[in-house]
Amino acid sequence: MSGQDKVNELIKKREIARLGGGQKRIDAQHEKGKLTARERIDILLDEGSFEEFDMFVTHRCTNFDMEKNKVLGDGVVTGHGTIDGRVVYVFSQDFTVFGGSLSETFAQKICKIMDMAMKAGAPVIGINDSGGARIQEGVTSLAGYAEIFERNILASGVIPQISAIFGPCAGGAVYSPALTDFVMMTEENSYMFVTGPKVVKTVTGEEISVNNLGGANVHASKSGVSHFKVSSEENGLLLIRKLLSYLPQNNLEEAPLVSNNDPIDRRDDFLNNIIPDNPNQPYDMQEVIYSIIDEGEFLEVHRNYAKNIIVGFGRMDGQSIGIVANQPNFLAGVLDSDASRKAARFVRFCDAFNIPVLTLVDVPGFLPGSGQEYAGIIIHGAKLMFAYGEATVPKITITLRKSYGGAHDVMSCKQLRGDLNYAWPSAEIAVMGASGAIEVLEGRAMNAIEDPEEREKFKAEKEKEYKEKFANPYEAAAYGYIDDVIEPRNTRFRVIRGLQTLQTKKLTNPPKKHCNIPL
Ligand code: HXC
Repeated sequence: MSGQDKVNELIKKREIARLGGGQKRIDAQHEKGKLTARERIDILLDEGSFEEFDMFVTHRCTNFDMEKNKVLGDGVVTGHGTIDGRVVYVFSQDFTVFGGSLSETFAQKICKIMDMAMKAGAPVIGINDSGGARIQEGVTSLAGYAEIFERNILASGVIPQISAIFGPCAGGAVYSPALTDFVMMTEENSYMFVTGPKVVKTVTGEEISVNNLGGANVHASKSGVSHFKVSSEENGLLLIRKLLSYLPQNNLEEAPLVSNNDPIDRRDDFLNNIIPDNPNQPYDMQEVIYSIIDEGEFLEVHRNYAKNIIVGFGRMDGQSIGIVANQPNFLAGVLDSDASRKAARFVRFCDAFNIPVLTLVDVPGFLPGSGQEYAGIIIHGAKLMFAYGEATVPKITITLRKSYGGAHDVMSCKQLRGDLNYAWPSAEIAVMGASGAIEVLEGRAMNAIEDPEEREKFKAEKEKEYKEKFANPYEAAAYGYIDDVIEPRNTRFRVIRGLQTLQTKKLTNPPKKHCNIPL
């Protein structure tokens, strides 16, 4: 063979590999409204940046005549490329090859790029579309999964890991995405469950559809397994690009600064009047967030799950920040088990990746009742407390209105090493609201008053007294628990100045093997 013949052979082999399971199966994939593994990578990465590895890998299985059925690449496309010029490692499961099922060699390909990503300190993005363990391979496939899981675990907190679910993801296969930082699902065509509808029916008798068991809606709103629900694969892939723009490459770096034209001293006067006069009237915390961050650009995480708390990424003077905010518009912004878990995980992510946390507080307390107690609100609330308390990134807290009881402490208070704790003049920082407090403190006296009108008058007077004492930020400010009471319209400016001064913050936790966060 001449040199050119050898090159031609290479070109031919590459063409075959790029066809994966063949044109018929590619067409079938498109008919389902799905892209192929390679089309997905093309949308995800900067044009022309993809460098593929292991295109010529084939499986080594000899069971069920599998040696006669080998496909170049073995069902997963792996390699690296760039997103906005920054290196990322990618694997994209190819459903056209044995249903994207995972073999020993398939797992080795994924492990290789995960190891390279760790060495380079670059994010890993996994696109999942797979029938799970390759049935013909048996235990080597299970071992392959475990090799990946171990790498997910060791990479956690070192490099960002993002999972897109664009097809089936069932059985133990769900645990790799679950171990990563962010999970995304497409509204159509994607599902995740530990056991499918058939097994569910056999074991429990419950009849349930694939979608109701593990579709995107379920995981984005009920279980919280999925952080993002997207209407199409294209939108999902573009969202991953956007998400990465807020993140550093690894835990030793800072997120990139993104220049913008939003003045740091921009004041939004409407903020001075956004808090309703009636303390029980809700308002939309999103409006506050959009008003104070750069150009109103907010990337919300877990948008449909535990809506009583908002978490997501924004920028202040170009610097990436994580925002945690109670949402008075939903369940009055109360903290329950789901909201606590959601926010705790987000705060821990930000802390692991050097992203400062801005906390906007308007919380009436923890949700009372047997439902929450049985669901373990004690342990879930403790998670959020733990996350804030151990975080060493800059932490700025603004109390807008209510900050009551245990929830006051949990929501990044001064004593949990809050760096800057500001309050709006409308803040109410107390053990509980006036009405509840007077029931407890004056219950006996009130019961002794027989005339209902007199009793109400007495109660109103006592509530007024209580509010004058506690329904303001000045009592807390007198103790220095609040660093300053600020004009709401100045919030953007004050936060940006705070972030600037905290840029050189250095804080470490005591040396230990690891913490024992209440799980
Ligand atoms: C080998 C598989 C496969 C698998 C699919 N295929 N799943 N081959 N191992 N796990 C093959 C099919 O034989 C078929 O090959 C091709 O992929 C496409 O599959 P279809 O069934 O035709 O596609 P579709 O109708 O879209 O159904 C997709 C599916 C179904 C729902 C995923 O294929 C399915 O139920 N697969 C089995 C899922 C499963 O039980 N996996 C094991 C889970 S347990 P041909 O040649 O006909 O095109 C697990 C344990 C992991 O994963 C443990 C980790 C700790």
